[in-house]
Amino acid sequence: MPDSDRRVWTKKDLVGMEDLSRDEIELILDTAPQFVEVSRRESGIKKVPLLQGRLVVNWFHEASTRTRTSFELAAKRLSADTLSMAASTSSSVKGETLHDTLHNIEAMNTDVIVLRHSAAGAPHILAKSHASHIINAGDGRHEHPTQALLDAFTIREHIRAQRNDPTANLEGVKVTIVGDIEHSRVARSNIFCLKKLGAEVTLCGPATLIPPHIGHMGVNVTYNLREAIREADIIYALRIQLERQHDGLFPSLREYIRLFRIDSDAMKHAKPTALVMHPGPINRDIELSTTVADGPRSIILEQVSNGVAIRMAVMHLLVNSGKRR
Ligand code: NCD
Repeated sequence: MPDSDRRVWTKKDLVGMEDLSRDEIELILDTAPQFVEVSRRESGIKKVPLLQGRLVVNWFHEASTRTRTSFELAAKRLSADTLSMAASTSSSVKGETLHDTLHNIEAMNTDVIVLRHSAAGAPHILAKSHASHIINAGDGRHEHPTQALLDAFTIREHIRAQRNDPTANLEGVKVTIVGDIEHSRVARSNIFCLKKLGAEVTLCGPATLIPPHIGHMGVNVTYNLREAIREADIIYALRIQLERQHDGLFPSLREYIRLFRIDSDAMKHAKPTALVMHPGPINRDIELSTTVADGPRSIILEQVSNGVAIRMAVMHLLVNSGKRR
């Protein structure tokens, strides 16, 4: 029997990977395969009634297509009712506070609020003072926990297949994250998650895009791409966040491409079994070449498919096991 049968989920919210234990992370990962199976059904209904009659509100204050549609589909596959609110159509533009808007949304008896916000910490603050289950779908530069969970799940599936061992975990797996670490909530959540699961994490990018004290998180840092990817099992390219670069932190895109792009030349220095990931959306031919993004080593579209199953697992655990205030 997998351990998941003995472990119990008790948290009301999912606000960050920093707050989760290894057991809690593994419980989510072990809950996901049944939902992968639901989405893959070829005949019959791609749905389960686990959130039937529940209300899930997607409340996005920042641009998002992939994450928003993934949460929406996950809620629908659990048979929940869903509402989507974009910030431009919500009353925040009229000066209402987040608390007041959320009290008003909650007056419609919501069960889950999926929040994306540019302010780091917004989901944590709302989670403390509101009854709904809050899921952080990205808060500023801070965290993006469901991205880290779907990444860990995708890596684990491949490690299990490569080793032909259905119980293999991430212990000792070498993950190299390349690019704009400084602005990346995906990198932060992944570092917390991967370290807790026993993986070895190496960061690589221009010195100006790697926070100076990041070594305290237990990661290796190198500014040399070849060195960074030589031993890696997983090469994870981050998006250059063109919208967050106000301070001219690297000399030019051309320079970035020359030194840090993951392309066929760079891949010559990687192990033949190394796999390539990216959280999307990709700036094609900037951080990742089209040949590699669409090539046989890329597992980027699997990340997207697994995202739905992981978000189903998270919502199911929060609503059906998590405490409510
Ligand atoms: C990420 C995000 O928004 O943090 N994308 C996503 O969730 N699909 C990564 C990014 O925008 O670079």
